[in-house]
Amino acid sequence: MSAEATQDVEAYASRALAELEAVRDQKALEAWYRAHLSPSGTITTLRKRIGSLPPEERKPFGARVNTAANTLKDAFERQKQVVENLELERAIRREAVDVTLPSRPLPTGGLHPITAAIREIERVFNAMGFETFESPHAELDELNFELLNMPPAHPARDMQDTFYISECAVLRTHTSPGQIHAMRKYAPGPLRVILPGRCYRHEQVTPRSEMQFHQVEGLMVGPRVRLSDLKGVLLAFARQVFGKNQQIRLRGSYFPFTEPSVEADIRCTLCGGEGCRVCKHTGWLEIAGAGLVHPTVLRNGGYDPSVVRGIAFGMGVERAFMLLHGITDIRHFFQNDLRFLRQFR
Ligand code: PHE
Repeated sequence: MSAEATQDVEAYASRALAELEAVRDQKALEAWYRAHLSPSGTITTLRKRIGSLPPEERKPFGARVNTAANTLKDAFERQKQVVENLELERAIRREAVDVTLPSRPLPTGGLHPITAAIREIERVFNAMGFETFESPHAELDELNFELLNMPPAHPARDMQDTFYISECAVLRTHTSPGQIHAMRKYAPGPLRVILPGRCYRHEQVTPRSEMQFHQVEGLMVGPRVRLSDLKGVLLAFARQVFGKNQQIRLRGSYFPFTEPSVEADIRCTLCGGEGCRVCKHTGWLEIAGAGLVHPTVLRNGGYDPSVVRGIAFGMGVERAFMLLHGITDIRHFFQNDLRFLRQFR
């Protein structure tokens, strides 16, 4: 049995090693350990056999078993490392995040089309040196009307039905009272400002009129300011916003706070001037009321009208937006129906 046993040990050890090399996961590794190195494993069995050998064979056989045991233990430690790495790789693959996957879109807000339009208008005028100037929504009657040359019984007040907050305070019916604020800040020096903002009128709400809307007011005051500056500024604006071949037209009009007063038109952007339903077959769209600032208003703002002159204009943002996009009901702008708003993102 002795020679055979020695043979057994070596043959056994190399079989066990081959088995170990094929082990690829933790479970198989543990099973292998139980079969070979644990107290119930083959190595233990072989050691127990030492006592039953003839005395002179015990030592060499014991040495063989120890060698085999050490070889298997070392191999086990190495394979344990290999299996750990494999398990780690598997875990990484299992938990991997595919960074090339397109993300699920998160719902985000957007600018209201009127806000976006105002920013665009601001951008164009800011580039021409007009500073954006904020003025209050609640105004004294004095600023909204009187200082703009509309005394209490002035018939022009009928053009702007008014929300009164108190005996003498109103929600501004236009952005023009901002002219007084701006002039009082800069007089007697020159100024160039635009005043965007919400205005309020006590109107019946219909497809064509809302009780709130936005205007952008423009004002420029200085010693050499003339009506041709108004034309130039409005033309430059129209060309940047509505196309580089745009034309403008000024028609005589009336506002108490400008003299002379005009309405500014641009070529109809829908028919190019041919005449269509939107421009009522005139070929023109009205975009602003404007004029030279009335001397009384200049004086109320703190200027000497014999030294400086001013140009002023006021645009209705919703109105222009409706004309450009063929929108027939102004109420859409305040209903916040996303189906409407999203069309202009
Ligand atoms: N404030 C006028 C309006 O609301 C517009 C305007 C502004 C006209 C400035 C002339 C000068 O209709």
